[in-house]
Amino acid sequence: MNKEEILKEIIEQRKSIFPKDYTDKEISQEILDEILNSATFAPNHKHTKPWRFKVFRGSEKAKLALEMQAIYKAAQPGHLFLEKKYNDIGFKINKADAVVSIIVNFSGMVPEWEEIAAVSMAVQNMYLTCTANGIGCYWSSPKIVDHLKESLTIEENQKCLGLFYMGSLE
Ligand SMILES: Cc1cc2nc3c(=O)[nH]c(=O)nc-3n(C[C@H](O)[C@H](O)[C@H](O)COP(=O)(O)O)c2cc1C
Repeated sequence: MNKEEILKEIIEQRKSIFPKDYTDKEISQEILDEILNSATFAPNHKHTKPWRFKVFRGSEKAKLALEMQAIYKAAQPGHLFLEKKYNDIGFKINKADAVVSIIVNFSGMVPEWEEIAAVSMAVQNMYLTCTANGIGCYWSSPKIVDHLKESLTIEENQKCLGLFYMGSLE
């Protein structure tokens, strides 16, 4: 296949794949590095590089799951609390091999929407690199990420736009 055909195939094959479909196989560090590196090639106005990604694996990921569950529980009045939703938050993070927090850093040099757009393009690069490497992934943007404090250090000029879940498919 020539370059155009390969690119077309990867773009067309890309899709969101959820943790229930991930296997237990670890993503190699080499592929994970490649996925994160691809993000940094996204276009970004005035080269502000507005993406801040933090990778969670192993015990840090387990802690993230507990914090997300605690936030959900604290935010629900008792009668709205759903055990299934609570368990599902933990299941998804624990089933993924790696979870990346998607944070935008607002530099003040360009409009905020441009920096969100640049981060989104960086995430698309990660999606495409996952697809090319047979890794399942998806962008999740639950409201509760606004309350993550222990797992993430969010500065005044930053915002968490969600979590990027990844896991092997074979
Ligand atoms: C900014 C953004 C936020 C998203 N947030 C969620 C989410 O919170 N939950 C979810 O299930 N999917 C989320 N998605 C994934 C979309 O549901 C998915 O991209 C859409 O259904 C199209 O499917 P595809 O990615 O397979 O083409 C998000 C996608 C984007 C681009």
